Amino acid sequence: MPVPADIAAQVDALRARIEHHNRRYHELDDPEISDADYDALVRELRTLEDEFPEVVTPDSPTQRVGSAPSSLFAPVVHRQPMMSLDNAFSDEELAAWGARLARRLAAGRHDGSAGPAEDGDDADAADEGVGDGLGLTFVCELKIDGVAVSIRYEDGRYVQAATRGDGRVGEDITPNIATLATVPDRLPDGAPAVVEVRGEVYMPVAAFEALNERQAAAEARLFVNPRNSAAGSLRQKDSAITASRDLAWWSYQLGEVEGGPAFTRHSETLAWLGELGLPVNPEIRTVASLDEVQEYCRRWEASRHDLPYEIDGVVVKVDDLATREQLGFTSKAPRWAIAYKFPPEERTTTLRAISVSIGRTGKATPFAELEPVFVGGSTVALATLHNEDQVKAKDVRPGDTVVVRKAGDVIPEVVRPVLADRPEGRPEWTFPRACPVCGEPLRRLEGEAATYCVNLGCPARRATAIEHFASRGALDIEGFGEQTVRSFLDLGLLEDIADLYDLDFERIQSLEGFGETSVQNLRAAIEASKDRPLANLLVGLNIAHLGGAGSQLLARHFGHLDALMAASEDEIAAVAGVGPIIAESVHGFFADEANRALVERLRAAGVNFEGPAAPALAQTLAGMSVVVTGTLAGFSRDGAEEAITARGGKSPGSVSKKTTAVVVGESPGASKLTKAEELGIPVLDEAAFVRLLDEGELPG
Ligand code: IVH
Repeated sequence: MPVPADIAAQVDALRARIEHHNRRYHELDDPEISDADYDALVRELRTLEDEFPEVVTPDSPTQRVGSAPSSLFAPVVHRQPMMSLDNAFSDEELAAWGARLARRLAAGRHDGSAGPAEDGDDADAADEGVGDGLGLTFVCELKIDGVAVSIRYEDGRYVQAATRGDGRVGEDITPNIATLATVPDRLPDGAPAVVEVRGEVYMPVAAFEALNERQAAAEARLFVNPRNSAAGSLRQKDSAITASRDLAWWSYQLGEVEGGPAFTRHSETLAWLGELGLPVNPEIRTVASLDEVQEYCRRWEASRHDLPYEIDGVVVKVDDLATREQLGFTSKAPRWAIAYKFPPEERTTTLRAISVSIGRTGKATPFAELEPVFVGGSTVALATLHNEDQVKAKDVRPGDTVVVRKAGDVIPEVVRPVLADRPEGRPEWTFPRACPVCGEPLRRLEGEAATYCVNLGCPARRATAIEHFASRGALDIEGFGEQTVRSFLDLGLLEDIADLYDLDFERIQSLEGFGETSVQNLRAAIEASKDRPLANLLVGLNIAHLGGAGSQLLARHFGHLDALMAASEDEIAAVAGVGPIIAESVHGFFADEANRALVERLRAAGVNFEGPAAPALAQTLAGMSVVVTGTLAGFSRDGAEEAITARGGKSPGSVSKKTTAVVVGESPGASKLTKAEELGIPVLDEAAFVRLLDEGELPG
């Protein structure tokens, strides 16, 4: 039967989405959706493939494991492939797995064949009673939410560790795993010639929280969840970083062994691994029926958050090794094991109010104030609603009963309203027109999801705006950091950036921590800041979307702040390298009365408004080759190339082995992306591109 065109299209679209999320998860360690949502996509694809087997291709995400290894690490060919597991999401699916086992084993006995049967015949499982009638023992293990790794010992010495990669070839992370305190570097005397052990590297919840506190203090990117931070910590070129991350290890499967004892049961292999000093999870149980398996699953679903590490399900394995042999593998997973995945935890609560907070750049973010509710291991009272469109799409209204869950098991998320509980006539929520902090109008830029308070004098933005103004890339006022800004603000010594040029130094000298010399130094530093080039001043004004590169272009083109202020939006947009988003933002900024008044005070203080452009840019991209595909928000195509070449990099039109990174905007070219993936070249979003331009570093 030919496959209907709409089904083929649906399959293609699903595969593309799954591939995208695979890359976010496996390569970028930066998932966009929760594991449960990812699993739902894969299930949808599998259902279609089951119904229309003609659409199944060998490279379908349902037929493959993980993701190709990255070129950052040397490849390791696994001597025994590292397989994935099939999932069960309910008791019924667990029972269906039991039924498949029963059917296969019965068939095997019947025709006497013990070998693994061919793929693809698992779908039509018999539905008759299973459970205790099976006569099998199962090992129930916690499904640790970490990163699968294979560790190899030769003659009792630790010699190699590798990630799973695509199951066949993984990445060599030997020095990184060597830093794990719980992974021994030697096995006891008399250990066999080769022992390969598979297991999970994970980050305990406490270590994850401490790490994110450190990240926050360093203003570095926060990790989404412990799994993600374990993955990020492993994929480091510098193993000292891995060493600082408190990772731990559970062994759960024996790989290749040479010269070891003969085993008949999986449970014996685990006990033996324990004797060798390799950590084995203490909650593992051997049970005699599927009913007991279900009991184990129930128990851990209820108490998963009592553990000091995260689990996302239970792995059930047939204990008897001869039976395993008989059951064999599909292309992707053993038939003798199944992962029972916990459903994401969802709770309902009352949405008390939707409020708006004003961030550092003036961005106005709506968030839900919830009747506190315990979900996913912690109490949730606030959840971001991201932006105006998200609130509209979810149609949540103050007073609603709402469903709340943890996205990626960490970030609280309002999923949807419970419409049945909504009384008639409850009004829709509308985005406030005025900033809740300063009362000035909020502005949403065309084509953008975010809304901004553009008033530079807004108290919510004040401290960060001043810090930014004084920072190195802007007016570079030495010795005027966060602490000083905050204490001056608290003491009423200044309110906005122009006040910097009218400080009461006598009063400052009387403050604790300020001697005569330090006041003199500060005075000199403030004086010197008046002479910075126009580009630096533009950076310092903290205009949404305008960074260092855009400021340079504007300064070079207009030469004087007055010329820029007099320019129309179109004139600004016409500057090579400046996109319409920057143009609208810059024009809107200078149209604002309060901002113009501030500029006049800077002029009166003697701050330089003229070019020339700042000295040549730091050559952060020397020797690099960066390919751009798709439309970026803050750069035109030429602008992006110019930004790369101005920093010493090359920006060719196609991806090759020599490409350092591929930057992806809206609607990227599929061939460039595929090529980048094939070659394992890092793929960057716009934010990472901007960081690359500034710092010359790829996200690690
Ligand atoms: S057994 C061939 N046991 O789950 C057997 N896997 O979804 C392969 N995992 O890649 C794995 N805890 O990263 C096994 N007790 C456990 C596990 C476990 C976590 C992970 C592992 C695997 C993934 C499959």
